Amino acid sequence: MRQTKRKRLIVANWKMNPLYLSDARLILAPIKRAARGQRGVEVVICPPAIFLTDLISRSEGSGLKFGGQDVFFEVAGAHTGELSPLMFRHIGAEYVIIGHSERRQRGENDGIINKKIKAATRAGLKVIFCVGEAERDGAGDYLKFLTEQLTAGLQGLPRPAAEKIVLAYEPLWAIGRSAAEADSPAHFLEQAIYLRKIFSTIFGRELAMSLPIIYGGSVEVKNAADFLTNGEAAGLLIGHESLRGDRLAEIIKLAAGF
Ligand code: PGA
Repeated sequence: MRQTKRKRLIVANWKMNPLYLSDARLILAPIKRAARGQRGVEVVICPPAIFLTDLISRSEGSGLKFGGQDVFFEVAGAHTGELSPLMFRHIGAEYVIIGHSERRQRGENDGIINKKIKAATRAGLKVIFCVGEAERDGAGDYLKFLTEQLTAGLQGLPRPAAEKIVLAYEPLWAIGRSAAEADSPAHFLEQAIYLRKIFSTIFGRELAMSLPIIYGGSVEVKNAADFLTNGEAAGLLIGHESLRGDRLAEIIKLAAGF
């Protein structure tokens, strides 16, 4: 089962970087220039939430989109330290990453992720839903694990909400390394076909065909094109390399060229 053709999605996950707003602005500058006027690619910057308002206001007219790196599942109330999906919406963010492995490692489980996905889509945000195995065993048991992550995360999600999902396949062992240690585009392609099949058993073939499945885990300038062409990735979720504005700009240009 293959995906419907659409704009490539380039998502930058800055994680807990940089330390200064002034640096965030500097990183953004070349990205903004590269994204301007590009029709074939949608660029989503997910900086630390505290920088969002400033960066969004500086990016008017650039075509850049913004997102949060996480969100809470309630919209308001006594939840110290949490951020509401509506807050993201109201400041002009359109996306949110949910279920990133770095959050799962800090105790976030499928049930919480499921609630977050429901709350975020209800608030009108698009969700970049991350799944990925910690280890890949020869017997293929990790596929069961991925199936469980996917089905539990999407449990009871209404169909219109499912249309707001972007699935990010990020094998944990490939995160935060170098391009040489990333997954292979060929394997990503196989994995995406498998995940799309599982998604189709929940939401049907039509919705599954239009589900964007993106790859994340040590994407750099070196291997980005390979994932988009040979891996047929609908887009890329990029961590460390996205903190180099010039490098992300290069990836945006090459993604726009296909
Ligand atoms: P990385 O991070 O590109 O540094 O591997 C990707 C991610 O964790 O989303």
